[in-house]
Amino acid sequence: MSEKKRVLITSALPYANGELHLGHLAGAYLPADIYARYQRLKGKDVAFVCGSDEHGAAITIRAKKEGLTPKDIVDKYHELNKETFKKLGISFDYYHRTSAALHHQTAQDFFKKLDKQGDQFLKKSSEQYYDGEFDQFLADRYIKGTCPKCAHEEAYGDQCENCGSDLSPKELKNPVSTLSGKTPQLKTTTHWFFKLDAHEAWLRTWIKEGKVDGKQLHDPSKWKKHVTGQCLSWLDNGLQPRAITRDLDWGIPVPAEGGEHKVLYVWFDAPIGYISSTKQWLKEKGADENDWKKYWQSDDAEMVHFIGKDNIVFHCIVFPAMLKAHGDYNLPINVPANQFLNFEGQKFSKSKGWGIEQHEYLEVFKDFPNKEDALRFVLIKNLPENKDADFKWDEFVENHDKDLADNLGNFINRVIVLTNKYYEGKCPTPSAAAIEKNEVLFEMAAKIGVDIDQYAFKQGIKSFLELSSFGNTDLQDVSPWKLFKTEPDSQVIKDCIYQALQTVGLLSIYSKPFLPFISDKIRDLLNLPHLTNGDLATENLNKELIAPGHVIGQPEILFAKIDDRKDQSRMEIVNAQKEKLAAILAAQKPKQPALKPEITYDDFTKMDLRIGTILTAEKVEKADKLLKLEVDLGFEKRTLVSGIAKFYKPENIIGQQVMVLTNLAPRKIRGVVSKGMILMAENEKGELTFVAPSKSWDNGFPVA
Ligand code: 2FM
Ligand code: ZN
Repeated sequence: MSEKKRVLITSALPYANGELHLGHLAGAYLPADIYARYQRLKGKDVAFVCGSDEHGAAITIRAKKEGLTPKDIVDKYHELNKETFKKLGISFDYYHRTSAALHHQTAQDFFKKLDKQGDQFLKKSSEQYYDGEFDQFLADRYIKGTCPKCAHEEAYGDQCENCGSDLSPKELKNPVSTLSGKTPQLKTTTHWFFKLDAHEAWLRTWIKEGKVDGKQLHDPSKWKKHVTGQCLSWLDNGLQPRAITRDLDWGIPVPAEGGEHKVLYVWFDAPIGYISSTKQWLKEKGADENDWKKYWQSDDAEMVHFIGKDNIVFHCIVFPAMLKAHGDYNLPINVPANQFLNFEGQKFSKSKGWGIEQHEYLEVFKDFPNKEDALRFVLIKNLPENKDADFKWDEFVENHDKDLADNLGNFINRVIVLTNKYYEGKCPTPSAAAIEKNEVLFEMAAKIGVDIDQYAFKQGIKSFLELSSFGNTDLQDVSPWKLFKTEPDSQVIKDCIYQALQTVGLLSIYSKPFLPFISDKIRDLLNLPHLTNGDLATENLNKELIAPGHVIGQPEILFAKIDDRKDQSRMEIVNAQKEKLAAILAAQKPKQPALKPEITYDDFTKMDLRIGTILTAEKVEKADKLLKLEVDLGFEKRTLVSGIAKFYKPENIIGQQVMVLTNLAPRKIRGVVSKGMILMAENEKGELTFVAPSKSWDNGFPVA
């Protein structure tokens, strides 16, 4: 497979029903941006598309909750998310939205083509949950109940967020409509189904071997193992026809007879959003009406989907099957899905206030120099590429200060300062040997590119830092500041500074995909133009970057340490974030009841506490909480009534040793006289457990 000249890069269209947090950024947007920026540098013709996913029940549910229309919600979050991505340097060529007319048209045309073909869809009537009070069929998300796999009580009709299982509404135990809070009824409705099962065989060969109809389309060894693994497990479980329409009024109307009051399922239209985003981009550029096909349907283009692991099945199985069914379309050459990013050891959770949103980060750190690249850097170092990762504030500070301020920033600063000091800012003329040494630098830099091409962005940033460390060490080894005192004209110093400038030049280029704002600043320091597409094209590779005689700019500090002894203002901002989390954790701890007022020793000794053993136990009639117990106290046998029936079965507690308050005045409970009380420990949920001696003890002896 030869290199293609066009690359179509997609990032999962985020739902426009809320703010996006750092986990989203690390999952599908930052990696895609690194890739897109690097491909552009190499001179590829890139289309990097995304947009808002504005349909689906999650949006209508949110609107209902807030007393707004779905449109109010999507308008608000579309703008917010779009702006925030831009501020963070995510370089989408286009950020479209699925409520746009062009998208509706594109999705409906896609549906109509498959419908017309006759062999792709089937119409099926089935029983679905219906809320009589709201006169509405219930989308999967409108039904909550107990997960059949993990017993989580708040599972949705399509998925359990506790154990991650995909579910269908009928699998839920105790289903409840989230509209009325009542148990829904089953009622018959008709829907269109996509015959996904008919695509199983070719999909398996495509995933496993990268081949379709004998043609090699991608190299399967380049796919992440967890992605291929998830796909094969889906295929091994057997594919089923999938419903692609819903009884809802928010979405894209089903363009077929019988489609009244029905819309396309959000996962049918959302990936088509990548197509409409490309179309809209080109339309606004004034391109030819069919130009989008150059990215989607031509032999000289390849497509890569960037997503989070929860979207794998849609991008590796369902959407490819849709594209193949339609015909003419390219399939993705890779889907380098990321795993999840957690936050300080827990899942991001808006309701708990756990985590930080992208726009919130920008707000909190608004006066922070290079806040965008600081965040990008820390996230890149810790991307959940092959396993879940965790964002920690302490690491944020450490990585920023050590790698960016001490390593990269310090190196660049020294080179700029020394060049200005020794040579009035002019790049010195090197010896032939120094020019030859450039080769080593080019090789190190090329390695960064290889990493990016292989979607190994974490490794890429490591290779990038290695180049900077290499420059630092070289400078330190020569220590021109020492030699300059005695031999200011030494060629050794000239070579050293020349080399260091070449290294800074390379850092200015290879920082572009990762740290685009910093790249521009380094270029300014070097007095070189900001990079443009194609600056790393083959013909521009491995060239002297800073020519002897070139005059660079004045030094400027690139990164201010966060944990700076002399100025703790930035550290205080981070500490405030950590304190916020500590407060949430403290509030999460179960609350113990308040302490009772002090008593005297005499008060205590008034209680006659003794060890006993349960001899018999039985349920008290018509009282589901109570057990009637006979307890051996050594000197006598007593009848006691205890409220433990919910926690212990009678047959399981015979022989259990217990502590008994024997001199509590007898009480008649449900017709049984209880003489004393068994001591139990109670937790936050009101669950009870026996307080008992830690080894077998003689009955009747006092507790002292
Ligand atoms: O999981 C999500 O956030 C979806 N909105 C992703 C859609 S990706 C694509 F198909 F548009
Ligand atoms: Zn579950």
